[in-house]
Amino acid sequence: MTYNLLILPGDGIGPEIMDATRRVLGWYSAKRGFAYEAEEDLVGGISYETHGEPATDAMMAKALAADAVLFGSVGGPQWDKLPFHLKPERGLLRLRGDLKLFANLRPALCFDALKDASTLKPEIVAGLDILIVRELTGGVYFGQPKELVTLASGEKRAVDTQIYYAHEIERIARVAFEAARLRGNKVASAEKSNVMVTGVLWRETVHRIHDAEYPDVQLIDILADNCAMQLVRAPKTLDVILTDNLFGDILSDEAAQLTGSIGMLPSASLGARTDGRLPALYEPIHGSAPDIAGKDLANPIATILSFGMCLKYSFGRTADAALLDKAVERVLAEGYRTGDIMQPGMTKLGTAGMTDAILKALDALNG
Ligand code: IPM
Ligand code: MG
Repeated sequence: MTYNLLILPGDGIGPEIMDATRRVLGWYSAKRGFAYEAEEDLVGGISYETHGEPATDAMMAKALAADAVLFGSVGGPQWDKLPFHLKPERGLLRLRGDLKLFANLRPALCFDALKDASTLKPEIVAGLDILIVRELTGGVYFGQPKELVTLASGEKRAVDTQIYYAHEIERIARVAFEAARLRGNKVASAEKSNVMVTGVLWRETVHRIHDAEYPDVQLIDILADNCAMQLVRAPKTLDVILTDNLFGDILSDEAAQLTGSIGMLPSASLGARTDGRLPALYEPIHGSAPDIAGKDLANPIATILSFGMCLKYSFGRTADAALLDKAVERVLAEGYRTGDIMQPGMTKLGTAGMTDAILKALDALNG
């Protein structure tokens, strides 16, 4: 079995962190019989520079054909003034939309070695293990109309539309309940049913699915603003957070900070399994960090752990995925840090150096 991968490094630190992932891929191929073929293509600002658009039809065709897409990051200040539909982020959103990647899994795990690297007190974050299940192809990100118009009066008006169909909520709720059964068996469903009708439908639908199919899972409703507060007040009371596209975007950045750095958090974006095929894209949750791009400063761990999620979710190689988690844990325990998680007395490494350390740990653990 040879896996077909599409690698999309993108912009900013994307190429550097994807170099790191390529080396880890090479290791798994050499040492663990992970047979793969990888194609590469452009996405985001670099695609715009080369082809005049952030995602080409040719790239999309490769993404649709691949067993999994490994994505770096997109965006940068030089493209901020582009018309909306040409912005680098549209490349990523087209991938999510066209591949129908409705389920975004964002685990926020605080490695023991990093409990002092968080801006929160160590006792608040030590042992933290949360999974954010974010709806990814609906809501205000994709709702129509979405427009910025100049009215007859000369004033400008912008509209984004928050829209949810019951079926979109049902399928993401199932993902959250299934995931919860394999963890702490607790789902906190975050919405704003006090001010938004999409929130009312969200709450009602999540409860209907829960009562009919997952009565064994503990379900609590939480208003999204309160969820943001609980995340910094008592994050360990949370297990799985089920939420919509926009709230999930915000809450996952917040959760990332609990773990020490946004440079640590991987993610998987999955579609519906049909005929044995699972549409899937893996990306770090951090962005393109243009300020540190090309300087060998970026933390490659989020991207490397995203490949770990790929091993687990796309290819069912759970032992291989666990090995990678262990290697990262070991490197951190040995005191190796990139700049974003640097602490007094630790050894500071760059992107390539951290990757070397992880490969060495893999070798050691692999025996
Ligand atoms: C994320 C990012 C994206 C989002 C951007 C790059 C479009 O912030 O994956 O969290 O808003 O979803
Ligand atoms: Mg985000």
